[in-house]
Amino acid sequence: MKKIIEKNSNNQFSLEVVTWLQVKGRARRRFLRATAVEEDTSSLPLPTLLKPELKHGKKPLFDLMEAIREIKSKSAKDFCVHVSSDFNLAMMDMECSLKFLTSIFLILFLIGSYSAYENVRLVDAREDNEKHYVTLQVDASNATGRPIPETLFGIFFEEINHAGAGGLWAELVSNRGFEAGGQIIPSSIWPWSIIGDESTISVVTDRSSCFERNKIALRMEVLCNSSGCPSGVGVYNPGYWGMNIEEGKKYKVTLYVRSTGDIDVSVSLTSSNGSLTLASEQIIALASEVSKWTKKEMLLEANGTDDGARLQLTTTKNGSIWFDQVSAMPVDTYKGHGFRNDLFQMMVDLKPRFIRFPGGCYVEGAWLSNAFHWKETVGAWEERPGHFGDVWKYWTDDGLGHFEFFQLAEDLGAAPIWVFNSGISHHDQVETARIMPFVQEALDGIEFARGDANSTWGSVRAAMGHPKPFGLKYVAVGNEDCWQKYTYYKGNYLVFYNAIKKAYPDIKIISNCDGSSQPLDHPADYYDFHVYKPSKELFSMSHKFDNTSRDGPKAFVSEYAAKSETDANKGNLLAALGEAGFLLGLEKNSDVVGMVSYAPLFLNTNDRGWIPDAIVFNSSHLYGTPSYWVQQFFTESSGATLLSSTMEGNSSYVEASAISFQSNGSDYIQIKAVNFANVTVELKVKMTGLDSSNTKVSAKKKKVLTSASVMDENSFLQPRDDCATRNLGGDARDVCSRALLLFIIRHLVSLDVVDSKFYTRMSA
Ligand code: AHR
Repeated sequence: MKKIIEKNSNNQFSLEVVTWLQVKGRARRRFLRATAVEEDTSSLPLPTLLKPELKHGKKPLFDLMEAIREIKSKSAKDFCVHVSSDFNLAMMDMECSLKFLTSIFLILFLIGSYSAYENVRLVDAREDNEKHYVTLQVDASNATGRPIPETLFGIFFEEINHAGAGGLWAELVSNRGFEAGGQIIPSSIWPWSIIGDESTISVVTDRSSCFERNKIALRMEVLCNSSGCPSGVGVYNPGYWGMNIEEGKKYKVTLYVRSTGDIDVSVSLTSSNGSLTLASEQIIALASEVSKWTKKEMLLEANGTDDGARLQLTTTKNGSIWFDQVSAMPVDTYKGHGFRNDLFQMMVDLKPRFIRFPGGCYVEGAWLSNAFHWKETVGAWEERPGHFGDVWKYWTDDGLGHFEFFQLAEDLGAAPIWVFNSGISHHDQVETARIMPFVQEALDGIEFARGDANSTWGSVRAAMGHPKPFGLKYVAVGNEDCWQKYTYYKGNYLVFYNAIKKAYPDIKIISNCDGSSQPLDHPADYYDFHVYKPSKELFSMSHKFDNTSRDGPKAFVSEYAAKSETDANKGNLLAALGEAGFLLGLEKNSDVVGMVSYAPLFLNTNDRGWIPDAIVFNSSHLYGTPSYWVQQFFTESSGATLLSSTMEGNSSYVEASAISFQSNGSDYIQIKAVNFANVTVELKVKMTGLDSSNTKVSAKKKKVLTSASVMDENSFLQPRDDCATRNLGGDARDVCSRALLLFIIRHLVSLDVVDSKFYTRMSA
């Protein structure tokens, strides 16, 4: 290999590398050249910046990139590598080439390839005998483009898989009010457990709580003999499969206590078996001080870290003590609003334009009595009764209630979409003649969100700390209720519709009935559309809305995912590619598809009620499944312009779209493509409509979602999409590093991007 480094009179350096590439098993000579420009006139000692030798091998472009990166890293000034009209190769760095920005950025995103690749291999499609190719012809002039709705991509939060309780809602204590075991006493206190044995402690529940809506309290009888219980007896709560306690962080513990005698109680955060104390405080009080229910609050600062920790309430003193509403909240939550920071950030990174909540089937309930009743989830947390979500089969203390969902939407900058019960659960339904109480509950719930602080329900919101109304503009009447067995849905829907439109004409109402194949027979602003299919089937549904009537209400694809035990498994690359194809179709049909969200969003790995999901977590760690990372390919779409494009070729397993958007005052064009085929496909992108006199292509960024096998899933071991540190292969988030490596411009006006299974050429 030969390298030549030159500096011309304009302080322009050029790096020229003659090397051999491995092309389909044969060595082939390639001539590569890049230029670099100093930002100021001080000269760079360029020759010493380069490695003594650029290694020759299968990946020469890595070496070239490394060399250029090294020049940059050793330069005191900004040092940009950019396209020069003299040369036939350039490597672009997004960050530094912003400085060269004039009017158009070209950003190329490639999404995945169906089959495995072995290391990095350059494939020259022109030499491939079995050539598969497609050409995407893009008209880049916005004139023929179409605006994409501002709210196209959002998220759907459902209390499923312990997404909220034991997840986004940072409360560490599970069953804090002892209500989970039911209202008939004595009841189970699970997951609380006893510290001590029968000879020293007896624990029962009774109905003596001071809170009217949750009467169950815990009574602890301590029976230590004359030698006492030196290490203390009591109860502990393991949280949701262990509490994440971190050294140096503070935890606010609140509890209600009552006793017939003096008390001396240790409140401690300990390791999972109690052997190590991470933080502790004493509650010492005279009988006269605690003869009635008394609220105690304390701040515990952890001196150690354990993500399987527990909360203990212990004493060495004989007597009767009652506890109720025991809470442990990390002080460090998003804005102190109670949302677990890392999970919240994962949502933010999707740039959601809306958030649909609180479910799903969770809204319906298996039985109406166990459905989500918003009025029982507002007000002081201590007074909320909590409820058993009988579809996903777990108890929630309802810390994440109606108010908190609106707060979440506001914190995310996403439009709230409230789904309320339509008088229908999985097993019972309310006939239309008797639906009025449900309608009133919905109207009250809307007033809670957007009524002024003097209104009946707006005042409850104001008392909770949010006098300003939340901007509620969308509601959904029920979830998946427009099925034949739910005979009252349409009748009920109309009563809700008329009442809401009368009181709030600007609110957009979402029907559960499907209008994708034929027009709805009732008024609605959107209709809900859910789809869970195997990956390939979902991919082929990219054309689902092509023939939908352009006149009726728009679709709200509020739940979609590739789901199949045999192909999508727990969320792999194949599922993500199927979803990518489907999403590209939705983006292209965004004149009739108004909103889109994946489902479900979260999964606590200890409660795999529904898989796959977008974000998997335990008490301390998380990762995005490939489905999560696919959604990040669409974060610029909402409010962008869909460019007119057509595709021709001989592969039916490629979907692509082109959009343009503005960011920080600059114009961008983004092309997304997915190859679902198990063969290499050459993708040519031809662009017309660019005004060559004032257009300068000044930066390119390629992002690839791919992996060694389409069955690859992500894991806690590779938690974040960190381009800088990621290794190649084996992880479907392996996006940016590969993207940086394979960037070749062969001709002045074309960009060729080569991937193992996807060969792309773009020309302007
Ligand atoms: O997303 C999981 C469930 O799937 C939702 O609760 C329900 O609406 C759908 O059936």
